[in-house]
Amino acid sequence: MSEFLMFAGVVIGVLMIFRNFILGARCKSKEKLHGKTVIVTGSNTGIGMATAVDLARRGARVILACRNQIRGEAAVDVVKRESGRKNVVFMQLDLASLKSVRAFAEIFLKTEKRLDILINNAGVYMQGTTEDGLGLMFGVNHIGHFLLTNLLLDRMKACAPSRIVTVSAYLHNFGNLDFDCLHTHKEFGVGESGMDVFWIYSHSKLCNVLFTHELAKRLQGTNVTCYSLNPGFISTELARNTNKMFRRLLLKPIAALFFKDVQSGAQTTLHCALQEGIESLSGRYFSNCAVQKVKAKAKDDALARKLWEVSETLSGLS
Ligand SMILES: NC(=O)c1ccc[n+]([C@@H]2O[C@H](COP(=O)([O-])OP(=O)(O)OC[C@H]3O[C@@H](n4cnc5c(N)ncnc54)[C@H](OP(=O)(O)O)[C@@H]3O)[C@@H](O)[C@H]2O)c1
Ligand SMILES: *[C@@H]1O[C@H](CO)[C@@H](O)[C@H](O)[C@H]1NC(C)=O
Repeated sequence: MSEFLMFAGVVIGVLMIFRNFILGARCKSKEKLHGKTVIVTGSNTGIGMATAVDLARRGARVILACRNQIRGEAAVDVVKRESGRKNVVFMQLDLASLKSVRAFAEIFLKTEKRLDILINNAGVYMQGTTEDGLGLMFGVNHIGHFLLTNLLLDRMKACAPSRIVTVSAYLHNFGNLDFDCLHTHKEFGVGESGMDVFWIYSHSKLCNVLFTHELAKRLQGTNVTCYSLNPGFISTELARNTNKMFRRLLLKPIAALFFKDVQSGAQTTLHCALQEGIESLSGRYFSNCAVQKVKAKAKDDALARKLWEVSETLSGLS
């Protein structure tokens, strides 16, 4: 009998380690959010939607900030159904348009009283240009969120303690900020090839980490804290615009074997948004529900400051 118990214990232990390895760490916070309001950008699908479901379940009023009204309203139904809550609304936000970001902020500030958690989750992995002539990945992944965050900051300060969570990626490690290229092309890289898209996406994700680094400094003493994170490799629609052959032959089999589901993908976002006691880590980068060291370029004070100043100009904030 005792051998059996020991055997069972070992099996359960191994399964738990295996599960943790396969699915990654889980957000342990039991935090409830009744009376709190959160915004999740790009929440009509993928990691954003899984994040919205969890936050709604905890009792928050959840604003799904999405660019497409039909997909956004369909997502409201899904999030309501999966969370069993009714306090979920769609508000139109196209991060590829500075006008849309400003309109969103204006309507939000007029119609909503609080903002406790802002989740900058939306992202694109494709070449293109925004309404304002910026590179699409730089414009959506960074500049749109930069402007959105700044326009909502006063409300977040008024609702402090509050948090700003920006979804970056492991690929930020491959990013580099070439400001000469930015001046000429309003994007940190050029080109249309699969590799070009990979690099330019990586640059935009480095922007997410540096933005959070600088923002934390500017928020010192306000009780508004901010975090960037890597959600892990997750099966979502993110690669929907890549080469069909690449997707079918390479990405799909790899994703089926190694990528995690969207619930797993939401865990580090949730950790940054909810975990008690991480306020002293404001400005840092998280992965697998824990703070991580980053390369020098991802915590370079001068670089982060320069990016902030350029972003102010390009977003029309200054
Ligand atoms: N999946 C991964 O392995 C992985 C790894 C590292 C980081 N990430 C990051 O995780 C975040 C979520 O991505 P995901 O994997 O969940 O991808 P996804 O399934 O493609 O979801 C991306 C979301 O962003 C929205 N979006 C795109 N362009 C937008 C715009 N101009 N304005 C407003 N919303 C816009 C999309 O809306 P539509 O449906 O209307 O296009 C969608 O809701 C992104 O920041 C991504 O970079 C993902
Ligand atoms: C921040 O929070 C601390 C602890 O709750 C509080 O003492 C302090 O007054 C707050 N500061 C601001 C600026 O809200």
